[in-house]
Amino acid sequence: MDWGMKNRISKIIRPEDNRCVMLAVDHGYFLGPTERLEVPAITIKPILQYADSLMITRGILRTSVNPNTSVPIVLRVSGGTSITGDDLSNESITTSVRDAIALNATCLAISIFVGSKYEHQTLVSLAKLVDDCQRYGIPVLAVTAVGKEMVRDARYLSLACRISAELGAHIVKTYYCENFEKVVEGCPVPIIIAGGKKMSKEIDVFQLTYDAIDHGASGVDMGRNIWQSDYPVAMIKAIRAIVHNNSNVCEANDVFLKEKEKEKERNKSTKSN
Ligand code: 5RP
Repeated sequence: MDWGMKNRISKIIRPEDNRCVMLAVDHGYFLGPTERLEVPAITIKPILQYADSLMITRGILRTSVNPNTSVPIVLRVSGGTSITGDDLSNESITTSVRDAIALNATCLAISIFVGSKYEHQTLVSLAKLVDDCQRYGIPVLAVTAVGKEMVRDARYLSLACRISAELGAHIVKTYYCENFEKVVEGCPVPIIIAGGKKMSKEIDVFQLTYDAIDHGASGVDMGRNIWQSDYPVAMIKAIRAIVHNNSNVCEANDVFLKEKEKEKERNKSTKSN
């Protein structure tokens, strides 16, 4: 692997422990102003410093993130559908590699929809993006999106993750599932997991993260369970504890409770000022 490629991957998956906390805020690309991401700059600012990398689209990066940030950018470059459309899998490339370079992106992210009507189109887009990025030493993150009609089980996710790696993805984002170690075993590149819809109990998010790491995930690409929380700083710090400090669920919950009190105090003093 070329030096530039290795160097960029090391910014995403930290070489000290081969783990990663990627903060996902790209949801608006098909969901619009999602709950608690209505004003991205406000959502992103307090939690950005605790993320190893930020997954985002170019429009929100340009308008809502301070360019002085040292947090590496994982730029989502696929899209073209919306929640109101009839088929979310009909995605294409929406941002050129040239613009991604102009934005100093460290990694590019693209969704693939294995088993959908647009399987071929999204897989060929992934392969083409890897070709284009290889030239500049830029890694590609394949996002294994799951269509409504698909089951998120180890059989399906193994297929989607393996195909991503076969087509050249350097990192794969998928979902945690039963027998997750099978998914990891069949995929020769690092796998990170999405958090999914907001869960009502924080402890369940910590359990999901712990189980994923325990079964071989290299980290998380998490969004809603962090920034839809009333205490996003406490959430991301607790997730970090599991990913980077090998904390168990109980220890992560302790981090959360301690940080939640601090966050409450900070929120109080911001309101009174
Ligand atoms: C949307 C995405 C998200 O970035 C990804 O699903 C992670 O976010 P969350 O933890 O909220 O599921 O790729 O397509």
